[in-house]
Amino acid sequence: MDKQELIFDGCSMTELAAKYGTPLYVMSESSILERCREIKKDFLEKYPNTRAAFACKAFQSLEICRIVTKEGLSLDTVSGGEIYTAFKAGVPMENLYFHGNNKSLEEIRMAVDYRVGRVVVDNLYELEALNDYAREKNVTMKILYRITPGVDSHTHKFISTGQLDSKFGIPLDTRVTGAYIKKALDMSNLELMGFHFHVGSQLAVNDSHLAALAVAVNLMRDVKNSLGFETQELNIGGGIGIHYVEGDHRPTVSEFLDPVMKELYDKCEKHGLAVPLVTIEPGRWIVGEAGITLYTVGSIKEIHNIRKYVGVDGGMADNPRPGLYEAKYNAVIANKMGLPTKEKVTIAGKCCESSDILIWDIELPEVESGDILAVFSTGAYNYSMASNYNRIPRPAVVMVKDGSDRLIVRRETYEDLIAKEI
Ligand code: LLP
Repeated sequence: MDKQELIFDGCSMTELAAKYGTPLYVMSESSILERCREIKKDFLEKYPNTRAAFACKAFQSLEICRIVTKEGLSLDTVSGGEIYTAFKAGVPMENLYFHGNNKSLEEIRMAVDYRVGRVVVDNLYELEALNDYAREKNVTMKILYRITPGVDSHTHKFISTGQLDSKFGIPLDTRVTGAYIKKALDMSNLELMGFHFHVGSQLAVNDSHLAALAVAVNLMRDVKNSLGFETQELNIGGGIGIHYVEGDHRPTVSEFLDPVMKELYDKCEKHGLAVPLVTIEPGRWIVGEAGITLYTVGSIKEIHNIRKYVGVDGGMADNPRPGLYEAKYNAVIANKMGLPTKEKVTIAGKCCESSDILIWDIELPEVESGDILAVFSTGAYNYSMASNYNRIPRPAVVMVKDGSDRLIVRRETYEDLIAKEI
């Protein structure tokens, strides 16, 4: 193998580009397994009575569901489609958490029919609809209440969710929470197990988790004292960040969660509360760095004294994050590894939008048409957020592991684009 080639989980990226075409999502199974095992060792085995649910919204396919389930993780789902995919992958439905700020009646019924393990209830409309259907089916559904702890997280405002002014969850105002909890306790076919919060995503530090935890434990204390309700479960959401570009930090499980667990144990002891079952819901942290997207360079356009645009055969349709969140990415030329960087270029996608720029100003070796560009850390919120904008078929997904590769999602065809049309 040419030493100038990018190797990822034992596979040559230029060979994969040639074999499957570009754009191509490449996912490293070894990387996913490594993260799952870190969670197992440093969280699930270290702390009794804990669960970890992989947040499917980051990347869901049948194969990912099977891989993380085999590693002992549960799943966080947020739509009928995600539940259906998990079901088809053979995941025990008891392992599912079902989220959403406006679950449809169809989805609520589906959660009951499939006997989803936990429904994370966001509002009273949903509470009543869930209870009605569970009564009709003569089952008892276990629920958590999603609370809005009123903490800010240091991340982009579009992916920050814990603040009071949020469309998610029940605001933690003592006048309303008591009534909500009483209401849930009165429901004939629901069993309130506890609470859930999620403060935000791509977090390098755990300060907002610590702040939210303090709020949640106070709530646990208050509802025990006023209503005699003992919290059995606390789901502290996802949000642990990863490395995209220089300066980003991917915390280890221990670094991020040990202080949170210590705080929980200390506070529960102080208030005379039993320590609840704790669930975490990492998405990005498990799959983000496991992904690389490969593109072929096409047009190269130099605007004298201004900038050089390097056009690739994908863009915002396969990765909308730069346009949506000003997300930054790092990339290399997969067939020119080890060559010194020579020029500063801007990587432009092929969509008909000025905002379709994947990377502004990146230093690369001399770029030529036909080169294979590899963009790193695209495993989370890329494939899952991909669209057919400009009628571009979605790329294939290939799983690599120790030098072998297998297709897990085939490339869409033009026929797929019109398949649903009448
Ligand atoms: N649990 C809940 C209830 C969530 O809302 C989320 C993410 C997660 C877990 C997983 O968060 P993670 O561990 O992946 O940070 N599309 C955005 C991210 C949106 C995250 C929404 N909720 C992005 O591309 O950055």
